[in-house]
Parts: sequence; C-alpha cells; structure tokens
Amino acid sequence: MELKGRTAVVTGGGSGIGRALALAFAREGMQVALADLDEAAMAEVAGAIRGQGSEALAVRTDVAELGSVQALADRVWAAFGRVHVLCNNAGVSTWGGIETATHRDWQWVLGVNLWGVIHGLEAFLPRMIAQKEPAHVVNTASMAGLIASQGLGVYNTSKYAVVGLSETLAKDLRPYGIGVSVLCPMGVSTRIRTSERNRPPGLRNPTAPAAEPVELIGRSLEPEAVAGMVLDAIRGNRLYVITHDEGLEPLRRRFQRMERAIVERKR
Ligand SMILES: NC(=O)c1ccc[n+]([C@@H]2O[C@H](COP(=O)([O-])OP(=O)(O)OC[C@H]3O[C@@H](n4cnc5c(N)ncnc54)[C@H](O)[C@@H]3O)[C@@H](O)[C@H]2O)c1
Repeated sequence: MELKGRTAVVTGGGSGIGRALALAFAREGMQVALADLDEAAMAEVAGAIRGQGSEALAVRTDVAELGSVQALADRVWAAFGRVHVLCNNAGVSTWGGIETATHRDWQWVLGVNLWGVIHGLEAFLPRMIAQKEPAHVVNTASMAGLIASQGLGVYNTSKYAVVGLSETLAKDLRPYGIGVSVLCPMGVSTRIRTSERNRPPGLRNPTAPAAEPVELIGRSLEPEAVAGMVLDAIRGNRLYVITHDEGLEPLRRRFQRMERAIVERKR
C-alpha cells in the first residue's frame, strides 16, 4: 500500500509506540491525526510532524467513550476528507493477580484496550469502506495477547480479545480491500509502566496498587524500531507484527501444550 499523500489516525499518539508511529507516518509524507487524552504530549508530537513538513491534527479523545471517538472521526474527515490507516493503539495496564483485581481495574483496562479498539472500528470503518480506497487497520495488542503471564491477567484478557478481534477482522475486511495488522510486542521503552497517570478519577481505586509492574522477559525495543515493523506490515499487508524474536519459544511451547492436550486425550 502506498502511504505518501494519504491520511493516518493514531490513538495514543502522544507517547511511546503511538508517537513513533505518528512520526514515521509523517516521514512517509502522510497527514496524521493524533488522538490522546494527553493534550500537551500531542502538541509536542504535532509540532514535530509539522517540523517535518507534514500536516498534523491533534484531537483530545478518550477512546473508552464511543461519542469521543465518533467526534474524532468527524474532525478527521472534516480536516482531511479521507482515512487510509487507522491505528487503534491507545492502551493502559494494571498489574497483580486476577483474584485481587477490582471492578474498576476491569472497567478501565477493558474500556481502553478493548472497547477503545471497538469504538475505533465503529466510528471509522463505515466511512473507510465507503470511500473505496486502499486502507489498513492496525490494532495494538501485545505478546500478552498470545501468551499469559502471572500478574497480567486483566491486561491479558484485553489483549487476547484484541488478537481474536483482529484475526476475524482480517477475514471480514478482505472483500473490501482493507488490510489488518495486529501488533504484538514484548517490552518496548515507553511510559506504559506509569499508565495510572491516565486513569480517570471515577475509575481510580481507593488505595494505591500493591503490585509492581511485571518484569517482562526479552529485550526492550525502542518504539521507533516497532513503528518501522508496523509500516513494513502495512506495506506487505501482513496480519501479525511480532516484534521480538524471543517470542517464538513461548509461542511454540503454548501450541505444544495444546497439541499435548489433544494427543493425551486420545490415549
Ligand atoms: N510498552 C510496551 O512494553 C508494550 C508492549 C506490548 C504492547 N503495548 C501496547 O502498546 C500500546 C501503546 O502503549 P505504549 O507502550 O506506547 O504506552 P504509553 O503510555 O507510552 O502510551 C500510551 C498512550 O495512550 C494514551 N491513552 C491512555 N488512555 C487513553 C484513553 N482512554 N484515550 C486516549 N488515549 C489514551 C496515553 O495518554 C499515552 O499517550 C498500548 O496498547 C500498549 O498496551 C506496549
């Protein structure tokens, strides 16, 4: 898919992976719409994009609210008239055993990580289909959407759902010529470990979280390297963007455990 001259939308575009994606799209000559809760962070990214000679639009958006994402879509179509790449990327995490998760933890993490992706599709897909131009959806999941880790259960739940949604979406959108990629990184050097900064007051827990962020295995990649892999996947229309070679062994072991479950049942 040709990127130059086209339009990209990046949720969570103020920081980390979203910021790197937005800047990478701008370097390709795309117009970029940023959507984030953090207006100061978005202003910095929008300034950098304009400094590269590309157009940027920054819209304060809460992806957990359908109306907010619909308003974003209206702003983007009013400004650019077209959307070719939609990155449903905003995300947050909590840490700790499922048995200690509060109702608010579930609401917050699923609200951003899963409903945020669903809202993006609801608000953008009908018009992306109707415009009948090559297009691509990138949903940011995680290796935590393919492999379970103790202490990451709420996050695992949200990300497994995003992987499943994306796998089906790829089949559903094929007839329309719209590609789908699901981004599944292990560690990336971003501000994800301070996600609590983004938790709305109404969903805060009465006491501070007891659990420390889970230490991820494998290397920590720079967001720019991850963004480069996403652009390659868009161009090559590849579904899985599995950024870390270290992911192969845990994935293989997971499928071997499933294979054993079938073989041993038949004994
Ligand atoms: N960093 C990692 O190790 C890692 C690994 C796998 C997957 N991911 C995923 O990558 C995505 C990006 O996270 P990141 O690592 O760049 O973290 P980050 O905290 O640096 O960036 C996340 C951005 O999302 C924004 N955001 C949070 N809640 C929002 C909401 N309700 N509405 C709109 N914007 C909101 C934040 O303000 C922030 O700018 C997330 O989906 C995360 O789960 C990260």
